[in-house]
Amino acid sequence: MRIAPSILAADLADLTGALALCEQGRADLVHLDVMDGRFVPNLTFGAPVVAAVARHTELPLDVHLMVEDPGRLLDDYLDTGVRSVAVHWEATVHLDRVLGRIHERGAGAGVALNPATPVEVLTDVLPRLDYVLLMSVNPGFAGQPFLPYVLDKARRLRELLRARNVQAEIAMDGGIGPDNISLAARAGVDWCVAGSSVFKHPEPAAAIEDLRQRARMETV
Ligand code: DX5
Ligand code: ZN
Repeated sequence: MRIAPSILAADLADLTGALALCEQGRADLVHLDVMDGRFVPNLTFGAPVVAAVARHTELPLDVHLMVEDPGRLLDDYLDTGVRSVAVHWEATVHLDRVLGRIHERGAGAGVALNPATPVEVLTDVLPRLDYVLLMSVNPGFAGQPFLPYVLDKARRLRELLRARNVQAEIAMDGGIGPDNISLAARAGVDWCVAGSSVFKHPEPAAAIEDLRQRARMETV
């Protein structure tokens, strides 16, 4: 299990400090929650902030675009050299075109699904995806409780990938911590986003290692 701390839950006035904690905890990637105040009721990181974050870390960056019509803003974020970008299925009319654009620019392409959106909507586009980001909370805020029914979606998606012989990864995002990361691992999730369980912990770097260890105990 790989761990992607979400710096939305960190001290937003000290992003370099948050990145240092991610590096100390040997995070696999850093998750950046971009919100537009329309698709979700919150406003967060513009592309200049993501560019600044990119200048201050060697860790790969994963951008989660919680924005309406992501094609509009996509290039600004891709220009920052991030490793991967996920757009929401619910917010993207021309999904195939957007995925093509992400790939053209050399980044990994993901699709995020709200908790209530079934994984089967992705059946036809799966071969175009590098990852599916299953939301285990309603997007918009860090620190919300995990929705356990999303575990069944991970199992169904794992089965769908197997049946179609597709390599896309399964990621899970929202409310993940020491009490449920093993459930995600058992459901076939490849990597988890963790915000509050890392940054509200007194020792964030140790919290990252602990999450990874708990997931490993489940999968051996
Ligand atoms: C929710 C975001 C998540 C969130 C995770 O809209 O997409 O990435 O920051 O934070 P926690 O782990 O606290 O739910
Ligand atoms: Zn996220």
